[in-house]
Amino acid sequence: MVLLEIFALLAILVLVFLLKLIFSWWISPIQRNHKLQTCGFQGPTPNFPFGNIQEMKKKNSVDSSSGSSKLTHDIHSTVFPYFSRWQNSYGKVFIYWLGAEPFLYIADPEFLKKMSTEVIAKRWGKPNVFRNDREPMFGKGLVMAEGSEWVHHRHVIAPLFSPLNLKAMVSIMVDSTKQMIDRWITQIDSGNPEMDVEREIVATAGEIIAKTSCGMKDENARKIGEKLHTLQMKLFKTTRYVGVPYIKCIEMKKTLETKKLGKEIDKLLLYVIETRKESKVKQQGREDLLDLLLQENQVDGKYGKILTTKQLVDECKTFFIGGHETTALAISWTLMLLAMHKDWQNQLRDEIREVVGDKDVDINVLAGLKKMKWVMNEALRLYPTAPNVQRQSREDIKLDNLTIPNGTNMWIDVVAMHHDSSLWGENVNEFRPERFMDDVNGGCNQKMGYLPFGFGGRMCVGRNLSFMEYKIVLTLLLSRFSFNISPNYIHSPCIMLSLRPAYGLPLIVQPL
Ligand code: HEM
Ligand SMILES: *[C@@H]1O[C@H](CO)[C@@H](O)[C@H](O)[C@H]1NC(C)=O
Ligand SMILES: *[C@@H]1O[C@H](CO)[C@@H](O)[C@H](O)[C@H]1NC(C)=O
Ligand SMILES: *[C@@H]1O[C@H](CO)[C@@H](O)[C@H](O)[C@H]1NC(C)=O
Repeated sequence: MVLLEIFALLAILVLVFLLKLIFSWWISPIQRNHKLQTCGFQGPTPNFPFGNIQEMKKKNSVDSSSGSSKLTHDIHSTVFPYFSRWQNSYGKVFIYWLGAEPFLYIADPEFLKKMSTEVIAKRWGKPNVFRNDREPMFGKGLVMAEGSEWVHHRHVIAPLFSPLNLKAMVSIMVDSTKQMIDRWITQIDSGNPEMDVEREIVATAGEIIAKTSCGMKDENARKIGEKLHTLQMKLFKTTRYVGVPYIKCIEMKKTLETKKLGKEIDKLLLYVIETRKESKVKQQGREDLLDLLLQENQVDGKYGKILTTKQLVDECKTFFIGGHETTALAISWTLMLLAMHKDWQNQLRDEIREVVGDKDVDINVLAGLKKMKWVMNEALRLYPTAPNVQRQSREDIKLDNLTIPNGTNMWIDVVAMHHDSSLWGENVNEFRPERFMDDVNGGCNQKMGYLPFGFGGRMCVGRNLSFMEYKIVLTLLLSRFSFNISPNYIHSPCIMLSLRPAYGLPLIVQPL
């Protein structure tokens, strides 16, 4: 008898679960899709519960070869083949579905401008699906925060990047780069001038961010760097079904692994922070971001609340993930571009000789490197290392005759806009740093067509740090070496959170 009751109970539970599944996998998304269509949006037909994910995973029949030997900067159809296809059918604004989550695809700067004048930074959300998925990486740090919590964190964190604070980081950046240069010289002396520049620079930038943001010593910095890297590969390398409800239960193994890695990273950082709190004596004159955050934490600031230790951990992780790879890849792509364009490599070297000469690199000297700034802008245009910007609406947004419903996710395709000839002209896919000579917008005919650091009040807080790091690393490298493309280089930009060379970036490095 009891057995029968248990059985009946189980049957009911299973039934309820199935009904829930049917609702969240089919009924609810079909209703939302209908609503979006009546709001005026088109797009590829979704198949629930996967939405358009299956089509996104299909390889491009033309570009499916593992990379091409032709070195073209026309990369949009390689890195986002599905968006490129859908643009042909639906234009520069359309709806596509990640599982049961609708995304508004935007590659039209005018549309973006209209929309962003309607919504202030504080009222923007970040897609819940990504927040959950990326929790082990970013936690609730600034990248993911919203509303008044975001305002509070942003006010505490933005001043950390003041010129005065950045100045204190110069010597750390110089030291780490010099160590890398020594390694390179040893390798070249041993008869191997081919360097995987991407791997080297990502490692050095990781070391720099670990020291400047959380004052970590080499051993801990390396451990955290490795773990975060593994985590990123786990999250972004395997097939992704983000947005499909209950997918985390179905991909249990992956979910548990990433959770575990996330916890281990938290534990390492927690240890760093706790020991720092206990050792009242500060390292002399060396204030890293964590020191500054802890100081802020002692006083009950303007915004009342102070950051908890867990919040500090999350911000440290966010600096690490947000800060090291984007900058390192910007430097790496630049070296590839300079290896292809010897004239610019020489021009930058001349500028360094003129502006820096024998002086120590410091923040004022670096400001004089104008051409290098154009080159950075142009490299981030052709190879935007943060290839997209994301938002989620937290209210209905009305634009002319369209309504974007509350809860709509947005995917702003920065790669597409940076390679759009209707915005930049016919030479859009050519490397021409001089576009930025007299125009911070590079001659783009739309104000929001150039977005390497995002837009509005949520624009990247760390950009001044990355300018400085970029200039220091390039100055030291270009004064010591010349760069040529290695015959082993396979040009295959791909997205794995950041825009990176799929098979590394081997260059032939020669001492000057
Ligand atoms: C070339 C280097 C970099 C690129 C291309 C880059 C790009 C971006 C982009 C596109 C965003 C999103 C903006 C938006 O949603 O509108 C962002 C936000 C952010 N970045 Fe960077 N970033 C770089 C370097 C750094 C560095 C060095 C740090 C810190 C050490 C950093 C920390 C952050 C943080 C904390 C946010 C979140 C800001 C907020 O939501 O208020 N980034 N970055
Ligand atoms: C909205 O208005 C624009 C022009 O103002 C028009 O081209 C477009 O077809 C309209 N869309 C809808 C859904 O009515
Ligand atoms: C938007 O939707 C969310 C979640 O469904 C809800 O909590 C929020 O109140 C809505 N916002 C507005 C302005 O209606
Ligand atoms: C970066 O530096 C410039 C000039 O020093 C300053 O105007 C700007 O506000 C800084 N930006 C950030 C995000 O700190």
